[in-house]
Amino acid sequence: MNLFSLGRTVLLVAALLTLSNNILAASPRINYLLYCTGCHAADGAGKPPNVPTLRDELGRMISVPEMRSYLVRIPGASQAPISDADLTAVINWLLHEFNSDTLPANFEEYTVEEVSSARRNILADPLKYRAEHWKTYDE
Ligand code: HEC
Repeated sequence: MNLFSLGRTVLLVAALLTLSNNILAASPRINYLLYCTGCHAADGAGKPPNVPTLRDELGRMISVPEMRSYLVRIPGASQAPISDADLTAVINWLLHEFNSDTLPANFEEYTVEEVSSARRNILADPLKYRAEHWKTYDE
């Protein structure tokens, strides 16, 4: 291999890495798989009673303003090591993917600004907050 083709190979590898990084960063499905599936499972079913399902009920709860921010303030979401934009995409994605039957007709997707300020306001006691503004897990 001469220097010229070596240089071309390096450029090609660099281009492929950039491409795959962009694909990974851009995909909420992959971020969900990386940062949420360990507990909530690939299909969002969770492991009740310890880890709640992310299917169907979220679509109902987001009509309550306190619960709309709750989805982002929950530690598993707010503490995920991903950017505000990526977390916003994951939340919008899981609402469409796992809650399409229950989403209100006037559902407005989360904005990055909304997620950015909500996630900084981490819930110290998610179970208590949920019980106060929505209901307990076993109701
Ligand atoms: C280490 C395990 C774990 C990980 C990882 C995790 N969660 Fe959770 N999640 C939980 C548990 C446990 C609860 C129940 C509330 C609590 O104790 O925080 C929960 C609750 C939730 C709820 C509220 C559901 C309800 O019905 O009240 C949402 C929404 C949520 N998680 C989203 C996510 C998202 C999005 C991610 C990935 C970015 C994620 N979680 C990652 C364990 C996890």
